Amino acid sequence: MKLHYSKTDSYTKKAKQEKYPARSVYKLEEIDKKYRLIKKSDKVLDLGCAPGSWLIYIAKKAEKVVGVDVLEMKIKIPQNAIFLKKDIMNFDVWGNYDVVVSDLAPSTSGIEFVDEERSLEYCERALQIAQRALNRGGNFVCKIFEGEGTEEFFKKVKDNFEFAKRFKPKASRKQSREIYIVGKGFRG
Ligand SMILES: C[S@@+](CC[C@H](N)C(=O)[O-])C[C@H]1O[C@@H](n2cnc3c(N)ncnc32)[C@H](O)[C@@H]1O
Repeated sequence: MKLHYSKTDSYTKKAKQEKYPARSVYKLEEIDKKYRLIKKSDKVLDLGCAPGSWLIYIAKKAEKVVGVDVLEMKIKIPQNAIFLKKDIMNFDVWGNYDVVVSDLAPSTSGIEFVDEERSLEYCERALQIAQRALNRGGNFVCKIFEGEGTEEFFKKVKDNFEFAKRFKPKASRKQSREIYIVGKGFRG
């Protein structure tokens, strides 16, 4: 069953007032405040960055951000940001990032197990990219639609990072099966 949401909840209004293209910025803000993911000197990789609210937030907080998406970006790209129009499944990246974030979302079918499976596939890919891209000690955040594979994926994150947590931000709609997996301190 497809879920239809009110477009005018408080986060949507706030995003409009604060000139972010999507309300999802408040999920990252909450995760960042709670887990202290992004520092001023950081270089950050943002996977699935369109329409760009995370990219704008990260650009304000970090030294540099590289965003990747299959879609074009309609926002003005911040000066310390780079946008790459690429499919993450065919995208190769190596070394030198302090943080990798993934808000990647496959187009949903409405069939729960199919959407979970696709989301898991994206998470596996995001973790693989993080393993190549992150500096030792680096941080990782990844959106996942909770399902059968979540526990196993979480274990992988735990193996790769000193600290791992599952987190559901307040800005994430209660009806949505999405949660975020946070990894801190990449073991390298
Ligand atoms: C929920 S949106 C991200 C929102 C973004 N964090 C923001 O705050 O503006 C998910 C994004 O993942 C992108 N995406 C989905 N599959 C992708 C792929 N294979 N490669 C790159 N981007 C992809 C979609 O195009 C979409 O823009």
